Formats: sequence, structure tokens, C-alpha cells
Amino acid sequence: MFKPDTSVSESQNKGILKEIIETNITRKLIPKGLSWFGCMGGLSLLAFLIQLGTGIFLMFYFIPSPNEAAASFQHVSHRVPYGWLIQRIHSVGPHIMIGMVFSHMLRIFFKRIYRHPRELHWVSGASLLILTLLMYYTGSFLTANNAVELSKFQLTCSYTLHVAGIPLTMALFMGMHFFMVRKTGIYEPL
Ligand code: HEM
Repeated sequence: MFKPDTSVSESQNKGILKEIIETNITRKLIPKGLSWFGCMGGLSLLAFLIQLGTGIFLMFYFIPSPNEAAASFQHVSHRVPYGWLIQRIHSVGPHIMIGMVFSHMLRIFFKRIYRHPRELHWVSGASLLILTLLMYYTGSFLTANNAVELSKFQLTCSYTLHVAGIPLTMALFMGMHFFMVRKTGIYEPL
């Protein structure tokens, strides 16, 4: 019976994957004497991904209803394994992320990196800052104490914006931001 020789295409695939990883990650150069300030863009992305992961976890348990929100909150904190930890990370994370995004922006501002040809990096970045603050604002309504004060409609609106509308818009703007950084290359000499 005819058996296709898969070993050649498998090793070819591995070679392509290795090449992609090397050209995009392991063989990439970083600027000489990179400071903590210079890492704030990448760290903002990491903070966003942590918020995304912990937020998806919390979505499995949170009930966006003024009567049930507090109980669902208690359930995650006390009964779900490591729920308390994930919930804490998700509530402390935004403060750290906002600090990082601001530090990133201040570096760009004081080093005047926003000038041509990086005007659109700045505009998309400023939009990301506003969206980050909006995430914080809508998220603040979803805490156990604040959710009970809202009507069902207000809570549903905040929840929908917080878990879908704003994060999807952020992903879109981040895609543009990173694409433009790749196009111009970073400002610091390698
Ligand atoms: C969630 C928010 C943000 C994330 C995740 C993010 C991420 C990044 C990353 C990873 C880079 C490339 C590496 C670096 O230079 O740090 C970058 C570059 C850049 N960002 Fe942001 N950024 C954000 C917000 C902002 C804000 C608020 C501004 C300004 C208003 C901004 C303006 C820029 C500019 C001008 C560059 C190009 C820097 C260069 O060419 O060296 N970004 N960003």
C-alpha cells in the first residue's frame, strides 16, 4: 500500500518555523544600554495580556446582574481554586498597566520620538492610552460594591464594553501600533 513520506515535509515545516522564530525573536537585536523606560512599551503589552487572561477566567464566574454580582464575586474569591489570586491580579494589574503606559508615553514625549515619521505611532498610542483608561473606568463599575448600585441596563452596558467593545478596539489599535513600529523600526540605534 502507498504510504506518503511525511518525514520530509515535517522536517521542512520545522525548518520554516525555526527560521520564523530566529528572524523575528532570537536573532533580533536590542538597543545598546536599554533602560527600564525603554521597556515600558513591551511591558504595557505584557500587562494587557495578563489582564486579558485573568479577565477571561473571571468571565466564567461573574454574573452581570445587580442582585447576583456580589455573590458571584464571593464565589470566585472563596470557592474557586486560585480564584482569589486571579481576581487580585486582575484588580491590581490596571494600576500597574496605567503607570507603564504613562511612562512609555513620557519617554516618547521627552525624547521627541513622536516627530516625523512617527506621528501615527503617537496618535495610535494616544488612542491606546484613552482606551486603557476607559477599561479602568468601565471595570470600576464591575466590583462587588459598585455593581449593586447600578441598574441592570447600566451594568450590562459597562460589562459589554469592558469585556468585548473596548478590548477588541484595543487589539485593533495595538495591531496598527506594532505594524507601524515594524515599518519605521525603533528610534534607538542598535
Ligand atoms: C496599551 C498601550 C501601549 C502599548 C501596549 C504600546 C506598545 C509599544 C511597543 C511594544 C512599542 C515598540 C517598543 C518601544 O519603543 O517601546 C511601542 C512604540 C511606540 N509607542 Fe507605544 N504602546 C502603547 C501606548 C502608547 C502611547 C500612549 C503612546 C504615545 C501617546 C505611544 C507611542 C509610541 C511611539 C511613538 C512608539 C515608537 C517608538 C520608537 O520608534 O522607538 N504608545 N509601543
